[in-house]
Amino acid sequence: MGDQEFRALQSAYYDSLHIDRGFKAHEMVERFELGFREYVGAEHAIAVNGGGTGLDIALAIAEVGPDDEVISCAINFHGTHLAVLGRGSRLVLAEPEAPSLNISPTHLEALLTPRTRAVVVTHMNGHPAKIDAIEKVIHEYSDSQKTRPIISIYDACRACGAEYQSEKIGSRGSMTVFSFQSKKIITTLGEGGMIVTNDQAFARRAREIRSFGLGRAWGSNFKLTKIQAAVGQVQLGKLNALVNRRRQLALQRNSILGRCDALVLPTDGPNDRCSYNLYTLLLKGPKSPEARTYVMHALEELGIGCVVANEPTWKSNSYIANLVASRNNPVAEDIGSRIFCPSIHPLMTDDENAYIANAIAEACEKIEGRS
Ligand SMILES: Cc1ncc(COP(=O)(O)O)c(C=O)c1O
Repeated sequence: MGDQEFRALQSAYYDSLHIDRGFKAHEMVERFELGFREYVGAEHAIAVNGGGTGLDIALAIAEVGPDDEVISCAINFHGTHLAVLGRGSRLVLAEPEAPSLNISPTHLEALLTPRTRAVVVTHMNGHPAKIDAIEKVIHEYSDSQKTRPIISIYDACRACGAEYQSEKIGSRGSMTVFSFQSKKIITTLGEGGMIVTNDQAFARRAREIRSFGLGRAWGSNFKLTKIQAAVGQVQLGKLNALVNRRRQLALQRNSILGRCDALVLPTDGPNDRCSYNLYTLLLKGPKSPEARTYVMHALEELGIGCVVANEPTWKSNSYIANLVASRNNPVAEDIGSRIFCPSIHPLMTDDENAYIANAIAEACEKIEGRS
């Protein structure tokens, strides 16, 4: 935690000793919400205690229920799919595109049915999904079928500060959910989240659900604390710099790894800016799963952290595997067996970053030499 965050925390703490505003969001939280909605360019922002609970709330607002289908990309964070299954709805798994790992708008279109109530689109690892194509497909289908509108919920938990078509993620779609958990781009003391929307009714409902229904509806307690909000406000001021530094590191890695034929490197779409919450590499070729084990082991030996983010969710979560009976996602299976994400962090120096990239390159060159 930096000095500024500590001072914000201290002042919020002293403030909290004197002021009791009951169940209403404290003005510290309101200030953070205002700053956040101005930053992303959305009409409303509702602070909550996590990205996962933000998704739960968004799906409740969409009134997704047991008779409904919800489409989401098979390559995903498992919590995103648990939010769908928690509503008792049918989770329909779409194929991803490489190298972004984001949902394919073409496959999404093929999966729409009159029972589709919502789509949950994750901006995987900080790479903006093709929002315009997704919105077009959804609206054209709703219009042609004259069904109730399909709600688009964007999971931007790893995409805080990312840009789609030169606009910050969060300004388009029905609702967007962010996370401030400790591994994310900015954090509010380890946990926290934000829902943003341009729809006044959705915003009103989110505020009700967050805070015991505000005396007029069902709700529970999903509130962010004022102390977290004070820290979040300071972190928000650093967000652009944090994303810029992640992007510099990613660029430096790409230039070192450009020599590796075995790798597909992460790139931005035209006018997009990935937040690089994770730096995602894909191995090429039929022996990719074995090669990945080799490379990850080589990095581990050098003390370089590396995760697989993410395989199709049914692989990491048996609850999801049991509930998603029909799976036909060969593309997701294939991509999932080739992904690996060596750690990236804005506090890394250029030298540390070059050390990591050279270690990846050397491991990949050994694989190429072996095949
Ligand atoms: C893509 C994605 N969605 C949802 C979540 C859930 O967010 P939280 O941990 O704030 O509940 C996370 C991270 O944890 C995530 O990476």
